[in-house]
Amino acid sequence: MVQVDANAAGTEGGNETPVKPVKISEIDPKEIRRIETGMEEFDRVLGGGVVAHSVILIGGEPGVGKSTLLLEISALLASQEKKILYYSGEESAAQIKLRSERLGINSDRIYLLTIGSLEDIRQHIQDIEPQFLIIDSIQTVHSKKALHNTGSVSALRFVTSEIIDIAKKKGITVFIIGHITKEGQLAGPKTLEHMVDAVLYFQGEIQTDVRILRAEKNRFGPINELGVFQMGETGLKSVKDPSQIFIQHRQSNQSGIAVFPVISGLRTFLVEIQALVADSPLVVNPRRISIGFDNYKMAMLIAIIEKKLKLPFYKSDVFLNITGGMTIKETAADLAVCAALISSYKNIRISINTVFIGEVGLTGEIRPVSFLENRLKEAIRHGFSDFYLPTAQAKVKNYSDIRITAVDNIFEFFNNIKGA
Ligand code: TYD
Ligand code: MG
Repeated sequence: MVQVDANAAGTEGGNETPVKPVKISEIDPKEIRRIETGMEEFDRVLGGGVVAHSVILIGGEPGVGKSTLLLEISALLASQEKKILYYSGEESAAQIKLRSERLGINSDRIYLLTIGSLEDIRQHIQDIEPQFLIIDSIQTVHSKKALHNTGSVSALRFVTSEIIDIAKKKGITVFIIGHITKEGQLAGPKTLEHMVDAVLYFQGEIQTDVRILRAEKNRFGPINELGVFQMGETGLKSVKDPSQIFIQHRQSNQSGIAVFPVISGLRTFLVEIQALVADSPLVVNPRRISIGFDNYKMAMLIAIIEKKLKLPFYKSDVFLNITGGMTIKETAADLAVCAALISSYKNIRISINTVFIGEVGLTGEIRPVSFLENRLKEAIRHGFSDFYLPTAQAKVKNYSDIRITAVDNIFEFFNNIKGA
């Protein structure tokens, strides 16, 4: 239950238009209007632009670049003659000015409001009449009406629902920034997901410059498109060819690395799967840690390898990582994961020209995958020439100059890479 100060309750700002029900037959689907921000990767994730009057939550760890992203978006929108009210409860106006100088932003259509309450935001929306509102961050908005500490879950919900209410009545598009912790818990904002139209997560290893934007929820579009960016000296750059940044550091044959072409929405790009299998000091419970790949799925693949190949993984710690902060959910990556694991364990060097594609079943059989064409094309485009494919799909035509090894099961696969 949200407690509200009874004296302060009731609608403010009198001239909001009342809402009326509409007949479903009279609704024009074309009313869903998209605004392209012009930042290609951002528009892509939202399904081709921002839907006017929608409310979008953007979560990410502190320091990942949320404020940078939204300031750049503000500038792009401002250049389309839009008015933006940017609320920042975290930084002073001078700090934001510094950031905008770094980004080369200087617009008189971006109105900055630093430190203020929900009531101030409401007032300034009345005065400025912006088309866009940015809340940076929701954890810093307090309300005189809510009898809660700022940042508590119920206060977050209260201010969010008030902001959504203002936005819907005034026809404003809103971006709400929410901080999340390392474990991916939107400390509080997770509980806001159902209230908003779209939820985007901004991720990346802070130490590297790669940033990934993905949709967790989108009422107006698909959620399978990823936006890939690089954080540079002068802000975020959209990455048109993600394969290049995910596999750029490879120089020579190494053990424990396997390349896989992942399908992401309408694009395909190459990622590296890295495994480290090391003797464990923990006899009873060796570590199984995976970043970017499902832990249970990894445990299952390890069990298949142990059983079918008689490799005693139970004595080893296993770490698995997908480079660039990518996440793989596809079963087509099973073979590549097995390749990385086996290669690290047995110290088998895999040639840098090799790509692995295939699903691995519980009996160790290698099963066919979807979108094989797209995966092959992308890998060939980047100069890969050796392919391990499921036997059922190994008869690919139209490609010369590539070497295909058809594998039927994990045992045959092991014998093949041992001798490679
Ligand atoms: P910021 O947008 O403040 O992150 P968040 O709002 O998610 O906390 O960005 C944080 C980092 O980005 C900071 O360490 C500095 C870096 N940065 C750049 O590398 N290039 C830039 O152009 C800008 C503005 C920031
Ligand atoms: Mg910030």
